[in-house]
Amino acid sequence: MEKVSFTQMKDGTKEEYEFLTAHEIDHTKHTADRLLTALVDLYKSLSGYQITRLGHSVQSATRAWRDGADIDWVVAALLHDIGDIYAPYNHDEYAATILKPFVREQCTWCVQTHGDFQMLYYGHHLEGFDQHKRERHRGHPYFDDCAEFCERWDQASFDPDYDDLPIEFFAPMVREVFARKPYDPAVIRIGERVPLTDTNRAAER
Ligand SMILES: [Fe+2]
Ligand SMILES: [Fe+2]
Repeated sequence: MEKVSFTQMKDGTKEEYEFLTAHEIDHTKHTADRLLTALVDLYKSLSGYQITRLGHSVQSATRAWRDGADIDWVVAALLHDIGDIYAPYNHDEYAATILKPFVREQCTWCVQTHGDFQMLYYGHHLEGFDQHKRERHRGHPYFDDCAEFCERWDQASFDPDYDDLPIEFFAPMVREVFARKPYDPAVIRIGERVPLTDTNRAAER
């Protein structure tokens, strides 16, 4: 079978849906490479900053790596702004949706809410922004993790003179994460809090 013959989903056969499922599984295998391509091609610039959006993403991931963060954190840092491409008004939720099946719940939550937390750094300069928007999340088990994510990696990564690692360095980590079994409880690790920094691991890197 090269193509299904139905024109309305309700007319599809078991064989056709099995055929399509096999195609879909093959498609999912290349998610990591599509994300990396998107990051490079579409992130060339958000004008006005001293570095590009790609540079910001790579710098965030580099800082996470040098802090001794684990692979979930590093990949989350690399992709935390990928939602900017298609969802500038909820880029955090968009990025979190991409990551959700493949990383720890803790990392997904921090990516999902980082937009609210980041406002602490600039909200007071702009009309109509709530500098303390993060307060609506106060008491959440991952609140402090997101605060640290923003302080150490996100808000800090706009430096054109920082010694970034190349995106190729992170590609195998992205491939590893997106090759995981989606939504596997051993991947999502509900409620588990892993520190963002690890001084021993950082010293080895
Ligand atoms: Fe962001
Ligand atoms: Fe960011």
